[in-house]
Amino acid sequence: MERTFAIIKPDAVERKITGKVLAKIEEAGFSIVGMKKIHLSKAQAEGFYYVHKERPFFNDLCAFMSRSPVVVLVLERENAIAKWREVMGATNPANAEPGTIRKEFGVSIEENSAHGSDAPETAAFEIPYFFSQLELV
Ligand code: PPS
Repeated sequence: MERTFAIIKPDAVERKITGKVLAKIEEAGFSIVGMKKIHLSKAQAEGFYYVHKERPFFNDLCAFMSRSPVVVLVLERENAIAKWREVMGATNPANAEPGTIRKEFGVSIEENSAHGSDAPETAAFEIPYFFSQLELV
């Protein structure tokens, strides 16, 4: 069993499709071992995305991620990191496979409805950024 970290991004929460994204998560065989709705500050978003701090879209991405609430999750199943990225689809919704979350719900490369850890080391940073051990069941 492996765990990954996921975010249902502001564009999806604003459009009230949180439930549709959660349905796709459960249909794909994930157990939700942690979940909460939070409103990130800009500084918290900057801390989360610090690996992208030199990229030209960093400021816009952090402004977007802090403009309204998100749902943060820890998901568990076999091969969870790769499987969740497959279920989300490509970063740019225009390039995502049919049936993926980003293809069905994403608006743009920034407002692409979902985030997922890209490697075990990333998950090991991202999960405790948002959850204490006591919140994972
Ligand atoms: S990934 O998933 O890390 O391989 O994708 P990457 O292309 O490196 O993008 C990292 C995150 O930055 C967001 N992104 C952008 N935001 C705004 N404008 C532009 N042009 C842009 N390009 C990429 C992208 O949605 C990724 O967000 P997360 O939350 O990591 O999925």
